[in-house]
Amino acid sequence: MTHSRRTILKAGATAAALTATGMALVEGAGQAKTLPLTPCTPGATTPSNIEGPYFKPNTPERSDLVTPGITGVYLTVSGTVFTQNCAPVDRALIEAWQCDSKGKYDNVSYTLRGHFYTDANGKFSFKTIVPADYVDQGQFRTPHIHIKVQRPNAQVLTSQLFFPDDTEAYGKNFAQMNSRDGFIDRRCTIALGPKADNHYDGTFDLVTY
Ligand SMILES: [Fe+2]
Repeated sequence: MTHSRRTILKAGATAAALTATGMALVEGAGQAKTLPLTPCTPGATTPSNIEGPYFKPNTPERSDLVTPGITGVYLTVSGTVFTQNCAPVDRALIEAWQCDSKGKYDNVSYTLRGHFYTDANGKFSFKTIVPADYVDQGQFRTPHIHIKVQRPNAQVLTSQLFFPDDTEAYGKNFAQMNSRDGFIDRRCTIALGPKADNHYDGTFDLVTY
């Protein structure tokens, strides 16, 4: 053996190569695995998007937004926050806010609003529900989750996360809703696993300033 297992593992630990299709190929433990995520592309942040009219500061620190009385299709979104050099960010601040299953934002209190931090490996996970669509000032909005992400002492990135066309929630046609929204950015689509027990697990990695 010209390559020791130790050498290969060491190479695999740092290898996260981008293929021509933009999929991340991560090597490790002797096998390659294709991740269905938005991979980190060096130099490029997650595309920013409008803040919209419903942001509120001073939210509670919490990663579980499913407070008593909140019902809908449950959703856990997990991912990693990276720098533009694809290094995971310890203690990145993430702010999330969204409407409920009826398309209503809580603009009085903090329902479906919160902020939380990544761990030392840049990982985060938060619990919420799939939001519904709404119309604001005559503009149709497909279901989305507003986010802000900030590396400590760096510029805040504001964006929105969207849902795949085949998402099943509230009897709505997500393909049709997505096609009607003037602000949708398909690059910011949460990768959803199969729906089970009225719950989706989703993944999305964030690349911040
Ligand atoms: Fe919104």
